[in-house]
Amino acid sequence: MSSSEYFEFYVPSKDWGNAEATAARGNTITFADGTEALCGISGLWNASLGYGNVAIAEAINEANLNAATLPIFRRGSAYSREAATRLLEFVLPHEYSSVFYATSGSSALDAVVKLSRQFHDINSNPKRRRIVSFTASYHGVTMGAMAVTGSYLFQDVYQVDQRLNIKIPYDDLAALDIVMKRFGPEIAAVIMEPVLGSGALPVPQDIVDAVYAYRESEGFLIVADEVATGFHRTGPRFASHDWIQPDVLVLSKALTNGTCAASALLLGDRVVDAFDQAQQVFWHGETQAGSPQSCAAIVATLDEIERLDIATSAARVGRRLAAFVSGLESLSPRVKGFGRGSFRAVQLFDDAGELIGTDKVFELVSECRRRGAVVQPSPGAVQFVPALNYPDAELDVLFDRIQSVVTDYLAGQFA
Ligand SMILES: Cc1ncc(COP(=O)(O)O)c(C=O)c1O
Repeated sequence: MSSSEYFEFYVPSKDWGNAEATAARGNTITFADGTEALCGISGLWNASLGYGNVAIAEAINEANLNAATLPIFRRGSAYSREAATRLLEFVLPHEYSSVFYATSGSSALDAVVKLSRQFHDINSNPKRRRIVSFTASYHGVTMGAMAVTGSYLFQDVYQVDQRLNIKIPYDDLAALDIVMKRFGPEIAAVIMEPVLGSGALPVPQDIVDAVYAYRESEGFLIVADEVATGFHRTGPRFASHDWIQPDVLVLSKALTNGTCAASALLLGDRVVDAFDQAQQVFWHGETQAGSPQSCAAIVATLDEIERLDIATSAARVGRRLAAFVSGLESLSPRVKGFGRGSFRAVQLFDDAGELIGTDKVFELVSECRRRGAVVQPSPGAVQFVPALNYPDAELDVLFDRIQSVVTDYLAGQFA
C-alpha cells in the first residue's frame, strides 16, 4: 500500500458527498440530506452505549454547572477522586493503585513513553529507553504516540523520532526472541493492543505469554493499550483481564461513552511505588485532564454499564456479530473474518485472489452508507464495531444491509 493510498483513511471520502451528519440518537445517524443510517461502528468505536445517553449527558451538565472547568493540577477534585475510585473498582480483579488522567488516547500514549523511561531512570537503569510495539499497531497521532505506532502515518515526513522504537509483527514469536536477545537490557516497555484496531487482529496468546516471560527476566514494563478494547468491547470488561496484570492500562474512547476528550492510565504498584519512593514529579499535567465534566462522564458511564447490564448485552452482540461474520465467510472463500467479541472485520479478496485495494474498500463503505449502514474502512477490509447494547431487531437490519453489499460485490457488481 502506498502512502497516498493510506492517507485516504484520514480524509473524508468524496463519495460521502455533502451528507454531513446532523444528529445521532441510539444507533441511528441522521444526515443533512435527510437520510438516516444505522451506525455499525459506535461513533469512532467510542459510543459503546449508543448515541445520546441521557444519564451521561445530565452528569456532564451537572459538573458544568457545579464545577465549571476547575482544573485538577496541583489540587485534584472530588470529581477526579470519585472517577478514579470507581475505575480502580471496575478493573478488579486486576489491582491497580493509581489513576492518571490525560485528554486523548494519543496524549495517554505520549505519557506512557515518558513514564516508562522515567520509571527506569528512577530505578537507576537509564539505558532502558527503547519501546517495543507491533508493526500493524495504531497508538495515536501525537509525536510519542506516532513513534510507537507501527502503521505508516507519514512518521518520516513529520520527523517523528523513532530511533529508540522497535516494531515487530504482532504474530511473530521468532522476531520477538531476536529483539529480546539483542536489545533486552535496553527495553523500557512493551506496548500491546490486545486486538489490533487495524484489522481487528487479536494478538496470539503465545506472543502475550512470551512477552510476560521476558518481563520476568528483563524487568521492562508491559503496557496494555485498551483505548479501543476496553469496557466489554471484546467481551470481558477489559481484554487484558485474560492476561497476567500489565503494569499500565491505557483507557479512552468508551471511558466516557465518547462524550468527553478524556483518557486514563491505570498504574500498577511497581510504577507507583517507584515514583512515590523517589518523590519524583511525572511531568505530564494537561490543563483539561481529569476535568469535572470528563470525570462525571466516567462515573455516569460506569453506572450505565451496570444499569444496562452491558456485560450480558455485549456477549449477545458479540455472538451475533461472530455469526454474521461466519455467514459472510460462508458466502465465498474470498471473505475472511477476524476479530473478537464486538470488534470484528472481514477482509475481501478480488477474483484474482488479491486483497482489495483502498479504492475498493472505500467504494464498499460508501455503498453500505448508501444502503443505510455505517461501517469502518481498514486495509483490505471493512470493520464492524457496533454499540454493545444494540437491539436484536436493529442488528438484523444492519447486517442485512451490509450483507447485500458484500453479496453484490462477490457477484461482480462493483468490478
Ligand atoms: C489502540 C488505540 N490507541 C490509541 C488511540 C489514539 O486515541 P485518540 O484518537 O483518542 O488520540 C487509538 C485511536 O483509535 C487506538 O485505537
